[in-house]
Amino acid sequence: MCGIVGYVGDKDAYPLLINGLKRLEYRGYDSAGVALIGSQGLRIHKCQGKVSDLEAHMRDVDRSGNVGIGHTRWATHGAPNDVNAHPHVSTSGDLALIHNGIIENYAPLKEELRSRGHTFRSETDTEVLVNLIEDIQRSEEVDLPEAVRLALENVVGAYAIAVIDRKSPGMLVAARKSSPLVIGIGEHGEHYLASDATPIVEHTKNVVYMEDGEIAIIDRTKGLKIRNVKNQEKTPFIQALEMHLETLEKGGYDHFMLKEIHEQPRSIRDSMRGRLNLAQGEVVLGGIKDYEQKFVNAKRILILGCGTSWHAGLVGEYLFEELARIPVEVEYASEFRYRNPIIHEDDIVIAISQSGETADTLAAIELAKGRGATIIGICNVVGSSIPRVTHAGSYTHAGPEIGVASTKAFTAQVTVLTLMALMVGHKKGTISGSRFHRLLNELDAIPSKVEQVLKNEAQIKYIADIYKNATNALYLGRGYTFPVALEGALKLKEISYIHAEGYPAAEMKHGPIALIDEEMPVFVIATKGASYEKVVSNIQEVKARKGKVIAIVTEGDTVVKGLADHAIAIPETPDALVPLLSVVPMQLISYHIAVMLGRNVDQPRNLAKSVTVE
Ligand code: M6R
Repeated sequence: MCGIVGYVGDKDAYPLLINGLKRLEYRGYDSAGVALIGSQGLRIHKCQGKVSDLEAHMRDVDRSGNVGIGHTRWATHGAPNDVNAHPHVSTSGDLALIHNGIIENYAPLKEELRSRGHTFRSETDTEVLVNLIEDIQRSEEVDLPEAVRLALENVVGAYAIAVIDRKSPGMLVAARKSSPLVIGIGEHGEHYLASDATPIVEHTKNVVYMEDGEIAIIDRTKGLKIRNVKNQEKTPFIQALEMHLETLEKGGYDHFMLKEIHEQPRSIRDSMRGRLNLAQGEVVLGGIKDYEQKFVNAKRILILGCGTSWHAGLVGEYLFEELARIPVEVEYASEFRYRNPIIHEDDIVIAISQSGETADTLAAIELAKGRGATIIGICNVVGSSIPRVTHAGSYTHAGPEIGVASTKAFTAQVTVLTLMALMVGHKKGTISGSRFHRLLNELDAIPSKVEQVLKNEAQIKYIADIYKNATNALYLGRGYTFPVALEGALKLKEISYIHAEGYPAAEMKHGPIALIDEEMPVFVIATKGASYEKVVSNIQEVKARKGKVIAIVTEGDTVVKGLADHAIAIPETPDALVPLLSVVPMQLISYHIAVMLGRNVDQPRNLAKSVTVE
């Protein structure tokens, strides 16, 4: 939700900023802008639209400057237009500021600043902050870093900000609270700033992840200094970045989403690497080793997440309840925090998030942590906020996921949840040794089975072509595949804008069946397993009402094949592992429909990859 970049050094800032913004565009694409300081003073360029629109606009302007900031916006306060685009400028025109987050008390601050002579052009909360900093700079006669620090004492909300000042041309001041910021330290004394490491990795592997409440002062001659809100100096903790540039490129695919779907054999394998040990017949999750006994003794597990991560959590519920016999509640993080949930000190809370930055999930974690629960994270982005506030966790190792629609992150999350549930079930003795070993072998075979599923892409594309003009779609699953039905429906809605609903197959007769007519495609996961016969009956109910059935079946199935309009076969695997295979055709169907409809697959309208506002 909004991407921030900054540069201070000897090189031309503009190309670095614009390339950085392209990497961060997944965080929001309503508008983009840059502010540069060079021999011509401070210049701001911004416009509604994508980074490419800004680039076009910049072709005919002076782009010089060695210090600069850039922003790509996901609109919260104020429409996505040129005026509301960042950077925002103070009344005098001296300060330029970019912001990711929300200033909750912006309205009273705005009134106060107005009464003190400040003027506002935009509807944004950000413009209030830049004026507040200027007001303090002048009234208290302090330098920029101190003015930022004092201003932030008056601010309620979440922010990652970067500010530059025409009167301090070699300096950039950045600060964070609940929104991420990373600083890259270049070989020649130059510094890079970004919302995540993706714009930085091509310049340096040495990074500092800023902590909440920290203010960074980056000076062209004096280098980097970090202070906290109490004005105490802190030694920057420099880490080596483990990220490879090629993971940020499309690698020959038309879209990141397609690349990420096809990466799943590898990403699932990477999520199991070093954890699933077939030779020893064990699961070792190093990151939660010290919490194994807590898991074994847990009376209850709460799983928190949003969107696709919540769907992965639902699969986790089935896994933990079946394999480890621990009651599980799966909660939308956003709902959990706005009631008064009952949390026990011996509860284990598993927080799932691809980005590790989702504001609702972070806030729910803080609530559960405050009530004494043990928080275990399952996140993909290394060094993001959630892994830093949890007690322990396991990264998913799916690699950067850039398409806004989550695909490989889902299968990696489910893989890690499966490993956790197996590990706990084995330690507790709630699954037999033979079943444990059989499931380990089956899990190990999943990456090559996903490869087989991907070979059905031509058939899936053919089916996508038939149903691309549908206005509604139903997705049905049962047991382990009910969450997959929800995930399939979410994928279709978010990238093709076709209305879709996921339901437990048996619920259809309690309402949704009224929607079925000859126009309605119904995607049904009807693999061989515990509920197979029941799902076959549900398919018959759909067919009796002339609905179109697209079924995901187990290889060799003839019964459903005979009933359905189309059957996509996936290899046989135990029920507990079916989500890892059955979700793949769902992802591909949505992808191909969206492409055929001419949608912007990687950057669907109104969405952003990292949702850092509540
Ligand atoms: O980064 P997170 O996993 O916490 O994000 C949660 C949701 O915003 C995310 O899964 C969203 O629903 C995706 N666009 C789904 O494809």
